[in-house]
Amino acid sequence: MNKYVIRGGKPLFGEIEISGAKNAAVAILPAALLVDGVCRIENVPQISDVTLSLEILSALGANVRMLNRTTVEIDCRHIRNFSVPDDLCRKMRASYYLIGSLLGRFGQAQVAMPGGCNLGVRPIDLHIKGFQLLGAKTDVLGGYVYAEAPKNGLSGTNIYMDQVSVGATMNIMMAAVLAKGMTVIENAAKEPHIVDLANFLNTMGANIMGAGTDVIKIRGVERLHGGNYSIIPDQIEAGTYMACVTATGGNVLIKNVIPKHLDCITSKLVEMGVEIREEGENIRVIRKRPLKRTNIKTMPYPGFPTDMQPQIAACLCLANGTSMINEGIWENRFRYVEEFKRLGANIQVDGKIAVIEGVGQLNGAPLQACDLRAGAAMVIAGLAAKGITEIGSIHYIERGYDELVRKLRGVGAEIAIVAFPDEDSRMDPAVG
Ligand code: EPZ
Repeated sequence: MNKYVIRGGKPLFGEIEISGAKNAAVAILPAALLVDGVCRIENVPQISDVTLSLEILSALGANVRMLNRTTVEIDCRHIRNFSVPDDLCRKMRASYYLIGSLLGRFGQAQVAMPGGCNLGVRPIDLHIKGFQLLGAKTDVLGGYVYAEAPKNGLSGTNIYMDQVSVGATMNIMMAAVLAKGMTVIENAAKEPHIVDLANFLNTMGANIMGAGTDVIKIRGVERLHGGNYSIIPDQIEAGTYMACVTATGGNVLIKNVIPKHLDCITSKLVEMGVEIREEGENIRVIRKRPLKRTNIKTMPYPGFPTDMQPQIAACLCLANGTSMINEGIWENRFRYVEEFKRLGANIQVDGKIAVIEGVGQLNGAPLQACDLRAGAAMVIAGLAAKGITEIGSIHYIERGYDELVRKLRGVGAEIAIVAFPDEDSRMDPAVG
C-alpha cells in the first residue's frame, strides 16, 4: 500500500500551478453524452475521478481519445448502451450525472446508485424530483436508478429546489437542455462549476441563461453539436494550497486561478493574518506572522465552501485562541478530528459544530485518510507538524488532487509516496 510520508515544520516557497476543476470535470465529461458530435475538452485534471468518468463513457460506447495529458476528445454519436454498471458507479458520487445526461439525450437511463465520500446521508431525491417534473418516469430498484422519458420526450417546466444542491442543479440542467420548451430552475446552486457546465453546454449549442445566479433558464434545443471547451481552474485545489502556506508559513505564488472564485477563502485567511496579493490570474500567499483565530460557517457559494472546511481546520489548530467551525452542508464532515488529535490538536465536536483550541505545535504521527478533503487536510497538518507524518489510504486524496506530491515538492515540502507492505484487511474499502 502506498502512503504519503512527510517531514513537516518547513515554510514553503516557490510557485504552484493549479489544474482543471474536479467538480466541473466530473459533470462536463458525462455531459458530453448530450452532444451529437465530437467534443474536445482541455484543462482536464489527471485525477482518478476523471479516469473513472472516461472509463464509464467508454463502457457506454463513446469513443474517448486522450490527445495529451490534459486534453480529451469524446465522440458520443454512436452510443447504444444506456446502463451503467454498479462496480463503476459505486466509486464516486458524480456518477449520478449519467442519469441526467442519458435521460436528456436518449430518453432513458439505468444507473447504479452513486458512491462517493462518506459525509453522511447523500440522497438524490432532489435529482429524481427534477426528472419527474420534466415528465420522466423514475424508479429505484435493486440499487439502480431507472429513468424513462415519455415517447414524445421531456417537457420544460418550473422547478423550485427545496434545498440548494450542486448536483441536482447540474443534473436537471443536463436533462433539460434537449427538452421541449423552457425550464426554469429556482433556488439553483451558484458554484463556479455550475457556470462552467452551462458554458460548456452553450458552447455545444444549448440555450442556458442565468447560471451563477439562483434562477437558471434553459430553453430546449433540437440537438447539441461538437466543439472545443477548456475547464476552469479548481477553486478547491487552489484553496487547499493557500491553506498549506497558511499552516506552514512562507511565500508561494499560486498560478492559473480565477481570484473571484477564491474571495470567500481569501477573506477568511486575511482575517487570520495571512497576506494575499491578487496578481492577474495568480494569487500570492504570504504568511509570516502567527495565525489569529476566526469562526467559519460553511455555506453554498459564494459562502465559505464546505470542501475547504477540513483544510481550514488544520490551520486553525495552530492559530492563537479559540475558533469555531459550523458545518452547514454535511452531517458528518468532522471525521478527520480523531486523526488530528493524534498530532496533538485540541478539537471538540458536537454535532455540526467543532471548537478548536489553537496549540503551539503539532507533532508528526501515522494517520489514515478517510475522505478526499479530510485527506488533504491531513497533508496540511503533516506539513506543519514537527517530525514525520505518514498518511495511509491516499487513494481518497488522489481522487481530487492532480500531482499533489510533485506540486508540494516544487515549493520545498519534504513529502514522498512510499510503498509499504499491505496492512490487514480492516482498511476502508476502496469507495472514495
Ligand atoms: C457536490 O456534492 C460536490 N461533489 C461536493 O464536493 C460538495 O461538498 C457539495 O457539492 C456541496 O458543495 C461533486 O460536485 C461531485 P449537494 P453534491 O447536492 O452534489 C443535500 C468534494 O470534496 N441533498 O450540493 O452531492 C445533501 O445531503 C465533494 O469535492 C439532498 O438532500 O452536494 C447535502 O446536505 C464532497 N437531496 C446538501 O443537499 C439531494 O437530492 C448539498 O448537497 C441532493 C442533495
